[in-house]
Amino acid sequence: DESAVAPAGSVALDRPATIVGGDLPISSILIVIAMQTEALPLVAKFELVEDDDRSIFPKGVPWIRYHGTYKGLHIDLVLPGKDLVLGVDNVGTVSAALVTYASIQALKPDLIINAGTAGGFRAKGACIKDIYLVSGVSFHDRRIPIPVFDLYGIGARSTFSTPNLVKELGLKVGKLSTGDSLDMSPQDEASILANDATVKDMEGAAVVYVADLFSVPAISVKAVTDIADGEKPTAEEFLQNLIAVTAALDRAVTEVVGFISGKSLSGL
Ligand code: ADE
Repeated sequence: DESAVAPAGSVALDRPATIVGGDLPISSILIVIAMQTEALPLVAKFELVEDDDRSIFPKGVPWIRYHGTYKGLHIDLVLPGKDLVLGVDNVGTVSAALVTYASIQALKPDLIINAGTAGGFRAKGACIKDIYLVSGVSFHDRRIPIPVFDLYGIGARSTFSTPNLVKELGLKVGKLSTGDSLDMSPQDEASILANDATVKDMEGAAVVYVADLFSVPAISVKAVTDIADGEKPTAEEFLQNLIAVTAALDRAVTEVVGFISGKSLSGL
C-alpha cells in the first residue's frame, strides 16, 4: 500500500512534539548550593528530608543531600557541607566541583540548578537583592598567559538557554565570573571586566564545568548581596545583606522550580 509510506522528510513532522529528541517532561533536578544559610529555607519550602545513614556520598565526606518531591518534580538539594576542621561552609570551586561530580554520578539529574549569592557590578546595572539568571560563566582567577592555555583558564561556557523562564519570571540576565576569593584584586577586576560579567561568585563556573563534562544541562540563579565595584568593604556588605538577600534568592528559586514543573527542557 503506497499511501502508507510517508514521503521522505515528513517523518519528524508526524511525531508528537513531546517525543522528538526524547524531550520528555523534566522529572529530576539537582540543586547545588554552597552555604547552609542559603540552603535551609529551600529545604523547608520544598519539605526535603536529609539523607539517612545510607548516603549516596562516600563515608567521611562532609557533603550533604536533601531530597523530596515538589510539584511532581524529584528534587535533590546538595551542599558541600562544613570544613571538617574549621566548621565553616565549604565555599569555593573545589568543593562545588566535587559535590556536583558525586551527585551527577549517583543521581543522574535531568537538570542542575546552581543557586547562591553573588557580588554584583553597579557599572553593569546590578543592585543589591537583584536576581540574575546566568547566561554564561567563566573564571577570573585562572590566569595562564600562554596561547590557548589563556582561554582554557578563562573556561567560558554557556549555561542552558531558558528564554521562556526568563520572560515569565522577569529575571535579569547576565554573565557570571567565578573565582576562589570573596574580595577582588585589581587583576581579578580586569579579568571580570574582560569576561563581560555582571555578577561574581565562588562556585558557578565550577558547577557548570562539571555539568558540561557529563552533558547535564545547567542553569545558575544568583542573588546580589554586595556591590563589587562599590565603596563598601565586600565582606561587611555581604554579611549585612546575607539573610535578606537569601530570602529573595529562595523565593526566586521556588518560582524557577515551579516554572520547571511539568515542562520539558525545550520548554524552558
Ligand atoms: N558571594 C557573594 N558576594 C560575593 C562576592 N563579592 N564575590 C564572590 N562571591 C560572592
